[in-house]
Amino acid sequence: MAVLPIRITGDPVLHTAASVVSDFDETLVTLVGDMFDTMAAAPGVGLAAPQVGVPLRIFVFNWTDDDGVLWRGAAINPELWITTTPTGEADEESESEGCLSLPGERFPLRRADRAILTATDLDGNPFEIEASGWLARIFQHEFDHLNGVLYVDRLEHDYEKSVAKAIRKGGWGVPDQSWMPGVDHPEG
Ligand code: NI
Repeated sequence: MAVLPIRITGDPVLHTAASVVSDFDETLVTLVGDMFDTMAAAPGVGLAAPQVGVPLRIFVFNWTDDDGVLWRGAAINPELWITTTPTGEADEESESEGCLSLPGERFPLRRADRAILTATDLDGNPFEIEASGWLARIFQHEFDHLNGVLYVDRLEHDYEKSVAKAIRKGGWGVPDQSWMPGVDHPEG
């Protein structure tokens, strides 16, 4: 198992729809293991394969809810059903999210409160998770990655300048930029 470098916004792999996984082999097992290691080292609660430079429909998650229940798994070829996204302004306190591909930044964003994830595991066996609250948010964020969408692509107009400023300050927004968990210490 290994920690992999995490691609930063501007790298084409983050802005392109990923491909369906068709080979459930040792290479897939190794990749998912490396994704869990990378997510733990970052640290993060979710990580999608394009973030480690692999254009496949895979994400991993690791999050403990308020009741102490650990939600951890790998979703291969996921589908996501969500309730309607609430309208109105997002709350900076309770609705701010971040992304390891824009390290150190956080912006508020409205998300659907409930989601149903269907996917297969590493053996190709289907599973389903009904999620609400923050877990539903994690699923929406990671699922977006598989369609080449970053959460900053969904922000209200008001935040556009702040995002552009962060990208400029980081020297991001161009191909082949990455950071190494456990080695680099991105601001924030
Ligand atoms: Ni992300």
